[in-house]
Amino acid sequence: LSALRKDNTGYDLRHLLIGAEGTLGIITAASLKLHPKARERTAAFAAVENPADAVRLLRMFQRRTGDAVESFELMSRLIFELLAEHLPRVRLPFSSPPPIGALVEIAAYSDDDAARLRETMEDVLARAMEEGIVSDAIVAGSETQRLEFWEARESVPLAKAKVGEWLRVDASVPPHCLAEFISELEGQLAEVCAGQYVAAYGHAGDGNMHVAARPRGENPSAHPELTARIAEMLDSTLAKFGGSFSAEHGVGQTHPAKLAARKDPAALAMMRKIKRALDPDNLMNPGKIFAA
Ligand code: LAC
Ligand code: ZN
Repeated sequence: LSALRKDNTGYDLRHLLIGAEGTLGIITAASLKLHPKARERTAAFAAVENPADAVRLLRMFQRRTGDAVESFELMSRLIFELLAEHLPRVRLPFSSPPPIGALVEIAAYSDDDAARLRETMEDVLARAMEEGIVSDAIVAGSETQRLEFWEARESVPLAKAKVGEWLRVDASVPPHCLAEFISELEGQLAEVCAGQYVAAYGHAGDGNMHVAARPRGENPSAHPELTARIAEMLDSTLAKFGGSFSAEHGVGQTHPAKLAARKDPAALAMMRKIKRALDPDNLMNPGKIFAA
């Protein structure tokens, strides 16, 4: 409940509770810091050929805006195809889907920045097109269109669910490895299972990609051997880049075994000690993070 901006009196207990998934206690009250609302926002969808160009585009926006990129989301071609097929009511930005679509949003918090926000967006995109990084781009012409862009992005989980089951990893890698990670993953998947469905989309600005794969036209459970090979490949590629198997969705009751196998043993031992110290009777959300 402290409202102090600076406080260096020992352990930061707040951070201990973040990511604890309710296993250390229940938060019953908190003091919040409010941030001013953005004066202006603008979004665009840009078509890029490959992950390396997507990351180049992100860097261009970061440099130009002083790292004020609010969102930088990637959607692979398959994702656009899934949306078109399974959620035809959702408006899509491109008439034919590019290899990768990047949804970028920038915002302004000062009057000066707000006055030239659209110009900034158009400028960066024009330069990226000149440099051959972007082949096509659409800047939202209205707030309605900006929201339509987001509806396309936010409908992805639903479109995927309509297809059936997927093997999924909520992957994150160090941001500077992102392009290499995606390319390697695509190459490996093509080797393990040609003609296979793969979908990658996610929060590229955070080095976080949701990777989903399934045998074409069938659920993974129908092909246990192939599924195990794909899962192993996803895991080993992620490990090679020093990535995380749960960037934003947590461990929950699905991944305790994975956590026990992959987490740095020293970190894991410390986590267990903290859990025992604060919740010796294992009353707090038992079975989450650690197996019951
Ligand atoms: C998303 C959720 C699934 O990014 O994390 O769509
Ligand atoms: Zn996500």
